[in-house]
Amino acid sequence: MSTSATRFPSPSHLVLPSVASADLLALGGQVEPLVAAGATLFHFDVMDGQFVPNVALGSELARQLSGRLEGRATLDVHLMVSRPGEILERFLPLASAVSVHLEADPHPHRLLGRIREAGCHAGLAINPGTPIEAVAPLIPVLDYVVVMGVNPGFSGQSFIPETVTRVRELRTLLPERVMIEVDGGVDADNVGELVRRGANWLVSASAIFGAPDPTAMYEKLQAATTH
Ligand code: DX5
Ligand code: ZN
Repeated sequence: MSTSATRFPSPSHLVLPSVASADLLALGGQVEPLVAAGATLFHFDVMDGQFVPNVALGSELARQLSGRLEGRATLDVHLMVSRPGEILERFLPLASAVSVHLEADPHPHRLLGRIREAGCHAGLAINPGTPIEAVAPLIPVLDYVVVMGVNPGFSGQSFIPETVTRVRELRTLLPERVMIEVDGGVDADNVGELVRRGANWLVSASAIFGAPDPTAMYEKLQAATTH
C-alpha cells in the first residue's frame, strides 16, 4: 500500500464532486469528464439507515470506482454510519481520505489513529448541532475536519447559513496543517465565502451532478476557490 503522501492530492483548495448525486448506472462515464477537468478527489458517501435515515453506497461500488480512477484521482470516503469501526477496514485500501462522525462512535481517537496507520488522511465529521470545540482533544490525530453544511443523509438539501460562522471559528481553533472540508449545500453562491472563512475542501453533489453541464459547474466552483 502506498503512503498518504503519495496518495493524497496537494492543492490546498479543492472541489470534491460527491458521487451521491451521480447517475450510478453510468458512474464511470460520469466521472471521466470531471477527471479530465482536473478533479483529483471524489467524495463517497456511505449511509447505513441508522446513523442517517438513508441507505447508500457500499464498499463494492467504492472498489469499482477506485479501480476506474486508479492513478488519476482518489476517494474521500465519508462514513455516515453507526459504529464506523465495524466497516472501516473495507474502505481503507480504497481511499486516500476517510472520515468518521464524532457522534457515531465512543472511540474516535482509536478510529482516527487506525485511518492514519493505513496510510489515509484521517477526518472527523461533525453534525450541525455538534459544538466545534468538541474536536479540540482530537486535533493531534486529525488531518481534516468535515463541517456538515446540512443534516447528513441526503444530497440536495439547503445550506445551513450558520455553517459559515462555524468554519471561521474552527479555522482559529485548528493548526494550519488541519484542513476543513465543508459538506452539504455547497454551491456557486457560497463556495467563495467558505474558502475566505478558511475552508479547504468543498464537497458538492447536487450542484455539480444536477447541473446541465456538470463539468462546467465543477470548473466554475473550482475557479471560485481561488477568487
Ligand atoms: C450529505 C452528504 C453529502 C452530500 C452532499 O449527507 O454527506 O456529501 O452528498 O450533497 P449536496 O452537495 O447536494 O448538498
Ligand atoms: Zn458526505
